[in-house]
Amino acid sequence: MNQSAALHDHWPRWRERIDKSLEDLIPDATLSPPLLHEAMRYSGISAGKRYRAALVYATGHALCVGEDTLDRPACAVELIHAFSLVHDDLPAMDDDDLRRGKPSCHKAFDEATAILAGDALQTLAFAVLSDSDWHALSPKVRLNMLNVLANASGSLGLAGGQVLDLNMNSQEPTLETLAAMHRCKTGALIEAAVLMGGLCATDDFATLACLKNYAQPLGLAFQVIDDVLDGTGDTVTLGKPAGADQERGQPTFLSILGEAPARKYAEELKDKAIDALDDLGVDTTLLAGLAQFTVTRSH
Ligand code: IPE
Ligand code: IPE
Ligand code: MG
Ligand code: MG
Ligand code: MG
Repeated sequence: MNQSAALHDHWPRWRERIDKSLEDLIPDATLSPPLLHEAMRYSGISAGKRYRAALVYATGHALCVGEDTLDRPACAVELIHAFSLVHDDLPAMDDDDLRRGKPSCHKAFDEATAILAGDALQTLAFAVLSDSDWHALSPKVRLNMLNVLANASGSLGLAGGQVLDLNMNSQEPTLETLAAMHRCKTGALIEAAVLMGGLCATDDFATLACLKNYAQPLGLAFQVIDDVLDGTGDTVTLGKPAGADQERGQPTFLSILGEAPARKYAEELKDKAIDALDDLGVDTTLLAGLAQFTVTRSH
């Protein structure tokens, strides 16, 4: 079976698992304050490709970890991602009104609710991993995961990358500056997803180093293609406003390199990610399939 067929065998089921778990983990909208919980559920459930969750499951799968063990780490990563999208769309940031094919959180609710729903989605990610009623992994492993996720989300990762991104509007950055920003704002969480899947199986330094060598070019490739799709895709397929980067005057890999060289760059990064898998010495078909998806995707 080829990589993409193998992936297709698993990914829809992973999406269902994530939605079912998040249904249970995000407080019910009947609980007080109902508006906040409604907004968290609106932006957290039944939404998105679940690419980062798929990375957790595929990494765990390669290292023979059961899916029951992977559900919470995958949910935690998707909760951080959902929070980052809610805040990314706010008027003070990208000011985008459409997300995942429906009105952005601050449009469906209001700005204050969206800010707070983002905050609460973020903290829920850490509650989900530190919950004393969850026994699938040892406290030591969970602590390692919490550290990886917290660092990826903070000032040296996603939040820092978003700041670099917002400060880039009026400049013409070099490719290296742009890549450094992408590695933080998008790459860090993608790397965390892979490492968290890995930590479910082992704390072996060499294995985790191989996983990093796979995840780092992959995370950069993911955002390079996000930039390309922003300028070449259509709003319905993307589920978010096409052309938004150009409208904002946002420098991107597309604006600086043009489409064909940007795609070629992503392709090279993908090859680098796939090459790193050789050193793992396990069946990495699904991880290779996800790398292929990263550069061939249409949304
Ligand atoms: C969009 O991520 C934001 C970026 C970091 C580029 P995705 O393309 O994974 O968004 P969803 O989760 O599928 O909506
Ligand atoms: C956002 O990058 C990355 C995040 C940390 C959310 P973008 O601003 O390019 O993401 P989209 O295109 O709005 O999904
Ligand atoms: Mg943005
Ligand atoms: Mg945006
Ligand atoms: Mg984008």
